[in-house]
Amino acid sequence: MTIKPVILTEKDFVNQEELLYPFEERGLQFGDGVYEVIRIYDGNFYLLDEHIDRLYRSAEAIKIRIPFTKREIKERLEGLLARNKVDVDAKVYLQITRGSAARDHAFPDDIQPNFYAYVKEIPRMMDAMLEGIPVLSQPDIRWDYCYIKSLNLLPNVLAKQEAKEQGCVEALLHKDGVVTEGSSSNVYLVRNGKVYTHPAQKNILHGCVRMRVEQFCKDLGIPFDETAFHLEDIQFADEMFTTSSIMEIMPVVSVDGKIIGDGTPGEVTRKLQEAYEKDAAISDEKSLFQKVIEQDA
Ligand code: PDD
Repeated sequence: MTIKPVILTEKDFVNQEELLYPFEERGLQFGDGVYEVIRIYDGNFYLLDEHIDRLYRSAEAIKIRIPFTKREIKERLEGLLARNKVDVDAKVYLQITRGSAARDHAFPDDIQPNFYAYVKEIPRMMDAMLEGIPVLSQPDIRWDYCYIKSLNLLPNVLAKQEAKEQGCVEALLHKDGVVTEGSSSNVYLVRNGKVYTHPAQKNILHGCVRMRVEQFCKDLGIPFDETAFHLEDIQFADEMFTTSSIMEIMPVVSVDGKIIGDGTPGEVTRKLQEAYEKDAAISDEKSLFQKVIEQDA
């Protein structure tokens, strides 16, 4: 007998051709793929080269050969913005999976990657960036290669969900008390004017914004120390913040209900937010920093 597949879905039985996606797809079945989230301000990419470089590093680390050059991907992504006539603040989500093949843990030699990217309007988190956010500490139960931006995000998803259920905006991940990063961001502690963060080793994602923060610190004469801190160090923190392409530079005002500093965003965090806006060429009317000045006046 030759089986002509009828697939059982959440709604009904459907013929294979009616499915919108291949059912034997390695991204879906194994989380076997990599992704990027890229920020767009006023219709322009921010840190596009950095994201594309990381995409290639991630793909190479899991033996996926991307079937385009970096230049081709960039041109296609610019085309995506043009086709969608994007002139607002947005994000591009793009993912590359190993491809479609009969389910087997090992993959065929000739498998071809599947690629898609979409753009979505997403406003800046202005209120949160002005006021700061509460975070919840959670054990970091992920694997050793978190520098690969892989689709396997279940520990991150569950940590963030726990944070949300406890009224927090981000989960701060720690391995035996040593703070690694956030569930979808990098994390920093400021003490005596010095910024501490986990070194860019294999067990954290090397954030594109993190890279810029290191440069901003250099430019502003703020010491940037890649020494990991411990949950117990948090009680001595003057400031804390997290960074990502979505959260930008986000002040953290409490951890597990304990207030950081005086419970408002600190001076170093504000300087870095200002540097970020300059770097991302954010106009004065849309500037968070203008709002901070108004708030303080
Ligand atoms: N996440 N660490 C983790 C675990 C992340 O998922 C992210 C970003 C970052 C910050 O990386 P970057 O500065 O390059 O955005 C750090 C994206 C936003 C996401 O998964 O939605």
